[in-house]
Amino acid sequence: MKVCVIGTGYVGLVTGVCLAEIGHKVLCVDKDDRKITSLKNGRCPIYEEGLEELLERNMDQGNLIFGSDTSEAVGKSEIIFICVGTPPLPSGKPDLTAIDDVARMIGKSLNGYKIILNKSTVPIGTAKRIRKIIKENQVNSQEFDIVSNPEFLKEGEAVKDAFFPERIVIGSENEKAVKIMKELYGPIIRQDFDYARGNRKRKKEVPVLVTDSTSSELIKYASNAFLATKISFVNEVANICERIGANILDVTYGMGLDSRIGPRFMRAGIGWGGSCFPKDVRALSYTAEEYGSPASILNAVIQVNNQQRFKIVQKAVDLLGIIDDKIIGVLGLSFKPNTDDTREAPSVTVINKFLELGAEVRVYDPVVKDYPDNLDRGAVFAGDAYKALENADLMVLVTEWEEFSKLDFNRIKNIMSGKNIIDGRNYLDKKALKEIGFEYVGIGN
Ligand code: UGA
Repeated sequence: MKVCVIGTGYVGLVTGVCLAEIGHKVLCVDKDDRKITSLKNGRCPIYEEGLEELLERNMDQGNLIFGSDTSEAVGKSEIIFICVGTPPLPSGKPDLTAIDDVARMIGKSLNGYKIILNKSTVPIGTAKRIRKIIKENQVNSQEFDIVSNPEFLKEGEAVKDAFFPERIVIGSENEKAVKIMKELYGPIIRQDFDYARGNRKRKKEVPVLVTDSTSSELIKYASNAFLATKISFVNEVANICERIGANILDVTYGMGLDSRIGPRFMRAGIGWGGSCFPKDVRALSYTAEEYGSPASILNAVIQVNNQQRFKIVQKAVDLLGIIDDKIIGVLGLSFKPNTDDTREAPSVTVINKFLELGAEVRVYDPVVKDYPDNLDRGAVFAGDAYKALENADLMVLVTEWEEFSKLDFNRIKNIMSGKNIIDGRNYLDKKALKEIGFEYVGIGN
């Protein structure tokens, strides 16, 4: 099928590349010319395991091309994916300017029946809004259908999540559109494309849920909000553990053995961040408020998460007393491992607070080498973990990068001036560190 993907951000690029790999002719467009030029040269702007290789191969085979002319791309395609951003406004309400602009452009460029598909996380009701804008801007009265088809990709695992999803949600009130969508995703639903054969992640068949567009839009928000709730809940229990002398690792293990609860997404820590959970939980709470059904649980989930970051600072004060003039080595900046994304990263809040209290903060992250926008420029980047920890009074692990578990802690003990470790992810070997002589503080552990 001829597909065009508007927006080559995270979702758009992964979607475009993966659709090409399962056999479609894909044209990806973006208004950012520099990005398109770089993609045309086979350079992948984000790091995702396997993505660059797939990008190159599908470009070479002519299944994947990049361009800047959205109108032309719409004209040439049967299916149009809208993958543009909806960043939050200060109120928490998502900014729909980019979506509206694209809908107007699509309206003006329609030249036959097309399916317009929303892949980005968009506020509830956006499918209907897009339909209205397209209709208002149509030059002729061609037929078209709008489908809500949320993505569930995790950063760092996006290619696998795209090829081996746990479900495909199709939000459409129209049978013809649903049939075409099932054809589009056929190879993924049946798991019979080349990349899947022989891959251990391959599924038997991927479940497809067909529903109305509003329910589909809510499935995406409610899924992210539920996952964020799970983590905030576990973090709250971890805080109780600290008060009563229980161990969160055993508690979550014991809870997770109940199949209704399950063992995944139960890791206590410094809290959730990234480009999705914070934005989506706020947006759902905003919608709930707007429609007269305030979301008390979601508001508490956000509040618990905000407080959780400051628990690290409290723990540092408990260990060091006055923070002024203390040297703190922070390991990890990205919001989670295997990504360079620092959006809403808990590390930034914690480091800024340490600096505000007068500490000297040295930071090391295996991939983040530049200051995230809101990080206080007083933080100093170190070339490696050992340099970050030289003469430090305290080590704080914020992101569970694998290389941190392989550090030589005997060496670290000799180079640090204090022997204090706060493990914000319960990632290090507490017993081994205590044996070496460190004062180890985890989260509820
Ligand atoms: C999340 C969802 O997991 C995806 O399903 C969804 O498609 C995506 O948002 C999106 O809406 O685009 P992502 O933001 O990439 O994916 O990151 P996750 O791996 O889900 O982690 C989110 C945050 O939760 C991270 O800060 C992570 O450190 C934290 N986390 C996760 C915990 O603190 N504990 C856990 O047990 C798991």
